[in-house]
Amino acid sequence: MSDPVRFLNAFAHSMGVMTLYPEGHPSREKAVDGAFEELEGLVSAGGPLPSFTFLEDEVVYGRERLRDLKSWDWGKRLVAAGIERLELERKVTREEFNGFLEEVLARLMLSTVDTTEARQMRSLGIRYGAVGLQGQDAIDPALDAAFSSLPTMTTLELTLGEEAETFRWLHNEVQSGGAVPLLEAEAVVRSLSVAMHGDSRMLLPLLKLKEFDQYTTTHSLNVAVLAMGLAESLGCRPKEIRAIGVSGLLHDIGKIRIPLEVLTKPGKLTDEERAIMNSHPIDGARVIMQSDQDLGMAATVAYEHHIMLNGGGYPVLHYKRECTMASRLVHVCDVYDALSTKRPYRDAWPSERTMLYLEDRAGTEFDPDLVTAFIRTLRQGQAQVRVLSDEPQQT
Ligand SMILES: [Fe+2]
Ligand SMILES: [Fe+2]
Repeated sequence: MSDPVRFLNAFAHSMGVMTLYPEGHPSREKAVDGAFEELEGLVSAGGPLPSFTFLEDEVVYGRERLRDLKSWDWGKRLVAAGIERLELERKVTREEFNGFLEEVLARLMLSTVDTTEARQMRSLGIRYGAVGLQGQDAIDPALDAAFSSLPTMTTLELTLGEEAETFRWLHNEVQSGGAVPLLEAEAVVRSLSVAMHGDSRMLLPLLKLKEFDQYTTTHSLNVAVLAMGLAESLGCRPKEIRAIGVSGLLHDIGKIRIPLEVLTKPGKLTDEERAIMNSHPIDGARVIMQSDQDLGMAATVAYEHHIMLNGGGYPVLHYKRECTMASRLVHVCDVYDALSTKRPYRDAWPSERTMLYLEDRAGTEFDPDLVTAFIRTLRQGQAQVRVLSDEPQQT
């Protein structure tokens, strides 16, 4: 009988044995065989291919939370080594599985060794340090030491490629009529927060902006990071911060309904195109509501993120709507990121100009307290917050 818990135990066992015995040693081969057999069992049981998501204190198999894993403490270690998800794309061979185990082992070991190797890991886009949003206490002292001795400028070289990839996949899922995959959205947010805290600064994704869908991806990740940074500076609790991160990530999900020619049109939109464009908040809320009840905040934010403080914006309402704090917060971050990014029809605005724009409209379009807090947060992190594009950086 196949059993994901048995696989995880065999997997952990083989990790332990692999640290003790060299390649080719019978004990090591036996342990790998054992784990591989369990994996084969899961695959041949039919249904979707095995996928595991490692959260703070639990493991999710497919969409089901695994119980009976009380004494299994590898989830935290894997997350700390930047491995939050384990997913089989197809049936793998024993050799491929062995290669995979070696890679995981290398990541687990590298994350606690010296800074040269640690830096190499970062340049590969691998994050570590299970910092999450739990504050400094959660940092392993050894990892903390590795971080603090890294030169600060080079630590910006994270591509966040995996998060972008997951977001794109999530986007396609929704586009093809599926539900919003909550676990994956949370995994992206968690991973972004690890990246943010690992650098002890706000970090915006370094991605090429050649295609539209890449713009949406970059923009969504940026808004999630900015919104979490602002929520954190306002003293929100970790759970709220994460929910705000997910809301930021999904705020424009309604754009999946907009034809690409409208979305990427460089010139002015016709009235009809404008109407299509302006329907993304309602479509987004609808898509999210159909997906998961836990995403109530994200649905509200999707609906409200273009509504101004004075009632302007869209969707056009015939009554005064008091938008939620999360929506007002995402609204500020959304505009900041949109203006700071180069678009086909205009250059990126420098940060100072964007801040002035926000201040100018504080009290009419934006919540003034949030603008103040946002600008303070940006200034504290000054020079550390950059919206990156594929344009050569001015020096
Ligand atoms: Fe939007
Ligand atoms: Fe947006």
